[in-house]
Amino acid sequence: MSQPLVLGIETSCDETAVGIVQGRKLLANVIASSVEEHARFGGVVPEVASRAHLEAMQPAIARALKESGVELKDVDAIAVTAGPGLVGALLVGVSAANALALALDKPLYGVNHLASHVAVDLLTHEQEIRPTIALLVSGGHSSILRVNDITSDITSLGQTVDDAAGEAFDKIARLLNLGFPGGPLIDKDAKIGNQLAINFPRGLTQAKDMLEHEFDFSFSGLKTAVSRYLQATPDYVRADVSASFQEAVVDVLLQKSIKACKETGIDSLVIAGGVAANSRLRAVAQERCAVAKIELRTPPPALCTDNGAMVAALGSLAISAGHPASALGIEAASAISPSIPIWS
Ligand code: KG4
Ligand code: ZN
Repeated sequence: MSQPLVLGIETSCDETAVGIVQGRKLLANVIASSVEEHARFGGVVPEVASRAHLEAMQPAIARALKESGVELKDVDAIAVTAGPGLVGALLVGVSAANALALALDKPLYGVNHLASHVAVDLLTHEQEIRPTIALLVSGGHSSILRVNDITSDITSLGQTVDDAAGEAFDKIARLLNLGFPGGPLIDKDAKIGNQLAINFPRGLTQAKDMLEHEFDFSFSGLKTAVSRYLQATPDYVRADVSASFQEAVVDVLLQKSIKACKETGIDSLVIAGGVAANSRLRAVAQERCAVAKIELRTPPPALCTDNGAMVAALGSLAISAGHPASALGIEAASAISPSIPIWS
């Protein structure tokens, strides 16, 4: 099937999201977020997220069908995030997808959330799919992936040894009393700050660390350094702290991603996941990739954070590649590795 019509469901964290794609064309992308219910806790509360998914699921499906003008009976397949993510949250999406696939007698594709963050890039770029390095940076994960084939062949070159990049943004935003989620707030605050004001540490970039952790990340030292700086500097300039912290994260992410491209001989880099919406990361990536002659692809910011279109996109690619469907009745796979793009 060359242009499969796929409905994708995403519930791995706090977004109840439903997307519909036809081949590589985006037809609908509905997102109901429970973020405001979590904000006062400074992080996502799993039980609150699960309950919100239950309430939002059916209206989100109905809205996506309406927006796209698609009738449920015409959908070729259902795709759903099988994992990784919060198990109770995932279960709501997986149960809904199982029920839809069974009732409609359509194939079901359980997809890997991390691979789908990368796959969404294909909805906005014409290029053929080819081997690429992917920097995947979200609230729960930070990895450098070698993507030989998005539906069947992904290897992890490195990942964070402590916090995820988005988590680091969220924690520093809390220290700065900016609110939750912190990434977009730091991004905004940093625009009026000086990124050279404070020289914060770049984790795991020293020669001794590179032997064992060449493509791994660590943000805990940076977090401690920011916290110490704030304690020692009562009259600190918040925007300068935001900008200097952001610069340290961006610098490390890009140093390692570009090194991965060079060492593997792959001259293509996709930056995906919620943190890929960061304006400074996107700008510096453009500069450095141009110098290194690497083709850079970043999905539009709205498709970087969690959405259903990315799930549908990976399902659609799996069908086009002739990948077998997942078993009906699949379970949530809360800790699935990126090397399994489609869960059976
Ligand atoms: O991919 P995502 O929506 O959810 C997960 O799979 O985790 O990523 C959410 C993360 C949050 O930590 C949020 O603070 C971060 O992405 N984020 C950003 C920006 N927008 C979202 N981080 C930095 N700059 C941004 N503009
Ligand atoms: Zn995500």
